[in-house]
Amino acid sequence: MRVAMIGTGYVGLVSGACFSDFGHEVICVDKDESKIEALKRGEIPIYEPGLDVLVNGNMRVGRLSFTSDLATAVPDADAVFIAVGTPSRRGDGHADLSYVFAAAQEIAPLLKDYTVVVTKSTVPVGTGDEVERLIRETAPDAAFDVASNPEFLREGSAIEDFKRPDRVVVGTTSERARDVMRELYRPLFLRETPMVMTNRQTSELIKYAGNAFLATKITFINEMADICEKVDANIQDVAKGIGLDGRIGKLFLHAGPGYGGSCFPKDTLALVKTAEDVGAPTKIVNSVVEVNADRKKRMATKIIEAAGGSVDGKKIAVLGVTFKPNTDDMRDSPSLDIIPILQEKGATIRAFDPAGMEEAGRLLPGVDWCENAYDTIAGADILVILTEWNEFRALQWDRVADAMPGRLVVDLRNIYFPHEVARQGFTYHSIGRSPAEAE
Ligand code: UDX
Repeated sequence: MRVAMIGTGYVGLVSGACFSDFGHEVICVDKDESKIEALKRGEIPIYEPGLDVLVNGNMRVGRLSFTSDLATAVPDADAVFIAVGTPSRRGDGHADLSYVFAAAQEIAPLLKDYTVVVTKSTVPVGTGDEVERLIRETAPDAAFDVASNPEFLREGSAIEDFKRPDRVVVGTTSERARDVMRELYRPLFLRETPMVMTNRQTSELIKYAGNAFLATKITFINEMADICEKVDANIQDVAKGIGLDGRIGKLFLHAGPGYGGSCFPKDTLALVKTAEDVGAPTKIVNSVVEVNADRKKRMATKIIEAAGGSVDGKKIAVLGVTFKPNTDDMRDSPSLDIIPILQEKGATIRAFDPAGMEEAGRLLPGVDWCENAYDTIAGADILVILTEWNEFRALQWDRVADAMPGRLVVDLRNIYFPHEVARQGFTYHSIGRSPAEAE
């Protein structure tokens, strides 16, 4: 099959590279010419484990190429994927669909033979209808169908998620389009990956419902963690105890500083707006959005309280600033809420992140960026763990004790056992586990 992938962001680039690895001929298109030039040289604009090898390998054998010219990619394609960004619209939280609609209008005059136009971007219910209308308006005689095919990949494990998904969701009632989609995902069906074939609206909603459910699960366990802290209970045992119930499931029950990233915050907000617009407001998702936003700020208060009520004049070492490990993505990262509050309260921040410091440097002024974990800790009063990168999971505590004069550790990701840190003479605060556990 021949595929045109419009948009070389996270979803577009990973999907394009993976489809080419499935054996299809893929041309990725992006308006950003410097990005395309870099990709042609094999330079990957995002940090994603394994993507470099996948892109370069498929480019070398000629299955994957890059262009900034839509006319090179669209006319011969069996499927044209729209994988452009749908950020939150400033002011009202609705998904900004201007890039999606612009892509639809630009594709329209280039369609030649029968083509399936696929929305892979996360788009609100009804967007597929509008994409179809726009194409039909520009090219009344074009032979095409519009299908929805949401992507569920996670940053940091994007390739694995794409190639071994729990399911593939396709929204179109056209049998012809369904056949094209089946052919595209054929390698997955050989492994019996379930395919949910449904209509476009349902498929569009599945993506939002899935992300909102996961965000709710995280927010729920975070609230349970707050209770744990008050009653000397242990959140990890609560998560295990409920997660072993097959109806609940053990994943996404890791309590932390609140979810961030490119999807959950934007998609929960957009779902709230859609729900309001269609007259079926959702109270649960509204609360999740509110509780999570509040939680990120409250994490700064947690650190201040752990420090005895003030961080004024204190040196705080922060390990990890990205919204999760194995990514350089800073979007809606809890660090963006926590660090400015600590600075405002008079603390000096030294920080290190294995991949996110370039972007973080722009977003978090006044932070002293360091070379590695131990360099960051040097001279600190307080150590705060914000992101659970693997390399922070095995700190040598005797080295930490030598490097920092303070004896306070606040671990917002629960990557240590309280007693092991306490044994080294530190006061250790974490999430949903009482400091008394360390004794
Ligand atoms: C998410 C969805 O998982 C994915 O299916 C969708 O396509 C895009 O959004 P991503 O944002 O890359 O993926 O990361 P994910 O691993 O889901 O984590 C999202 C946020 O939730 C992070 O801030 C993470 O720290 C937080 N999280 C996740 C928790 O706090 N606890 C958990 O148990 C899981």
